[in-house]
Amino acid sequence: MDMIEYLAAHFAHDPDFLADIHASTGGLPSTLHSYEYMMGSVERPPAQVVDRLQRMAAISDCRWIGEHIGMVGTADTYAGTFLQPFGTDEQTEQFIVNLRAAAATSVTPFIVENQPQVFAQIGPRGVCRQVADVATGADCGILLSLSNIIISDSFFGMDREKEIAAIPLDRVWQIHLPVPSASELGDPGLARLRDDTRWAYATLEQLAAEPDFRPAAIILEVQAAGTPSRATPEEIKDRLIWAREMMQVKEPAVGGLR
Ligand SMILES: [Fe+2]
Repeated sequence: MDMIEYLAAHFAHDPDFLADIHASTGGLPSTLHSYEYMMGSVERPPAQVVDRLQRMAAISDCRWIGEHIGMVGTADTYAGTFLQPFGTDEQTEQFIVNLRAAAATSVTPFIVENQPQVFAQIGPRGVCRQVADVATGADCGILLSLSNIIISDSFFGMDREKEIAAIPLDRVWQIHLPVPSASELGDPGLARLRDDTRWAYATLEQLAAEPDFRPAAIILEVQAAGTPSRATPEEIKDRLIWAREMMQVKEPAVGGLR
């Protein structure tokens, strides 16, 4: 492992505990995964929330904060703050304004993630089109979550290839890749999980062949949504080697685990 992703919500009640965890990894560089900046909201998060996230980033050798582009969008309700209608011009512009303002006072850059679509689309943009417009407008990187595309497809049906085609590959800094256990994939009742996992691995291999696609990190989601049991250490290591070879990483980062 060359980099680790910390989930900000895990440390909400004791942000300084992250320093202990970080030290226990031997000082691996990290990224902080968060949704607490509420980038799609007109109402901004309280100062203490921002202070807490910034403190976590400062004590964990955080290279960038990965924010969800939204936990946003409802079919019928416009809450005015957190729940803006998904895919609209107004929401897209709000993301850009908020991202730019947050980045101006952050110890690290931000990247934005395509969210799982669990509400109906209201505006003209699908998830990845909006991610592209927000990242371009705010001049930030993208966290392309193959897991979230799979989740979105399970809710609404989604043209996966069309979604990915909307992503400017040269802005992708990070990938989220589901890594279920092999025993799960062999379960006859989990054919969909098996197909989805194969799709994710094959899609990443295809993207890796694109000259513009050079993410800095592929984060293996060992405990991904919809994955009831964890991959074994051997399976994770095999997947890590596969990812390194695909991205032509010759040597793990300093402090990386072999
Ligand atoms: Fe996420």
